[in-house]
Amino acid sequence: MENRYLTFALGKGRLAKKTLELFEEIGITCEEMKEKDTRKLIFVNEELKLRFFLAKGPDVPTYVEYGAADIGIVGADTILEEARNIYEVLDLGFGKCRMCVCGPESARELLLHHEQIRVASKYPRIAKDYFYNKKHQTVEIIKLNGSIELAPIVGLSEVIVDIVETGSTLRENGLQVLEEVCPLSARMVVNQVSMKMENERITKLISDLKTVVNKEK
Ligand code: PRP
Repeated sequence: MENRYLTFALGKGRLAKKTLELFEEIGITCEEMKEKDTRKLIFVNEELKLRFFLAKGPDVPTYVEYGAADIGIVGADTILEEARNIYEVLDLGFGKCRMCVCGPESARELLLHHEQIRVASKYPRIAKDYFYNKKHQTVEIIKLNGSIELAPIVGLSEVIVDIVETGSTLRENGLQVLEEVCPLSARMVVNQVSMKMENERITKLISDLKTVVNKEK
């Protein structure tokens, strides 16, 4: 039987570049995607019957849940925040960083004493789960869309829940990691129906990727 196309949704930016490098190592290439300045949104590898498209990170789990993409590559932060009905099948081992509670050193006391503080974050679900379910601390969560480190500096919140990679954004703004919420990295996610219908192809893809990922560890 002729294979149908397997469709991949890749989170735009650094992750997409790394993902394509990883795919090249297992013999999956997409020349079309390398063309500079292209305004195309979807790229096809006719021979392998694969399609790739780039989407905003938080939209990747949505495309995968609805089956518009069979497979998605996206950060663990986005998977946790979006909480979609999808299978997370593989840690790709790149894009490593941490989700942390950060703030000025003076805020450490407030966390310790379970004060009712304000927490700013681009990840309100992760922040809520951490404070309510893990720490049993009642806090007010304020959703922001970027430059989260500003919040404690200008007095919008006492602390933030945000991604820390090198730590330089914190350092340059006089903030510290106060608590670690969880480690993060790029993950592969799969649509639940595709996992059944295309089991052979997807299982092969996962095992090929595992070989490369483990080699790079
Ligand atoms: C992310 C994150 C931190 C920063 C952490 O922001 O929200 O601000 O990177 O990296 P570092 O520890 O290496 O300094 P991003 O640049 O994605 O932009 P945003 O502030 O708009 O979310």
